[in-house]
Amino acid sequence: MRIVVLVSGTGSNLQAVIDAVASGELENVEIAAVGADKHGTYGVERSAAAGIETFVVNFKDYADRGDWNHALTEKCLSYAPDYVVSSGFMRIVGEEFINAFDGTYINTHPALLPSFPGAHGVRDALAYGVKVTGCTVHIADAGVDTGPILRQEAVAIEDTDTEESLHERIKVVERRLLIATLADLAQGN
Ligand code: GRF
Repeated sequence: MRIVVLVSGTGSNLQAVIDAVASGELENVEIAAVGADKHGTYGVERSAAAGIETFVVNFKDYADRGDWNHALTEKCLSYAPDYVVSSGFMRIVGEEFINAFDGTYINTHPALLPSFPGAHGVRDALAYGVKVTGCTVHIADAGVDTGPILRQEAVAIEDTDTEESLHERIKVVERRLLIATLADLAQGN
C-alpha cells in the first residue's frame, strides 16, 4: 500500500508511522512521499533524513487557493498513492483534491468528532470544560474534519491539564490509532 503523507508541522505522528514501517510493525506499507504546504517544516526535514522523498507545494506561491489545490492534487497523484494521509496538515483541501482521492484521503484529528472540529480541537475542548475528549481517524470529505469515522478513542481531561499537556497525551493515542488504521487498510479491511 503506497501512501503520501501531508504535514504542516513537526510531524511527530508521521515519525511514528515511519518507525512502524521501518520496524516491520506496519507491513506492506510504503511511504511514497511526504509533502508540506510550506517550507521549513520539521516533518519534511525528518522525512528527508529517513531517506523518504519529500515535496513542498507552498501555499504562498500560488495566486489563489484553487491554483494551489490543483498543484497539490497533481503532485500527490504523481506518486499514484493508494491513500493520502493528512497528519497535522493544517490546510483545507478543495473539491478537486477530494474528488481525486475520493474515499482515500485519511485525516487524524485531536478530538472526538463531530465535537470540536477545526484547527484548535484541543483548546476548544478544554475551553468548553468537557471531561473527556480524544482523537479520531476518519476519511476526509470536503468539510472541515468531516467524513466517515474509522477509529476513535477517548482521553480523559485532568484538572491540571494545559493545552500542551492534553495534546501530548492525545497524540500518544493518535499515533497508535493511525498505525492501527493503516494496518487495517493495508490488509484490505
Ligand atoms: C495532531 O494532533 C493532529 O491531529 C493535529 O496536529 C497534530 C500534529 O502533530 N492536527 P505532529 O505534527 O504530528 O507532531
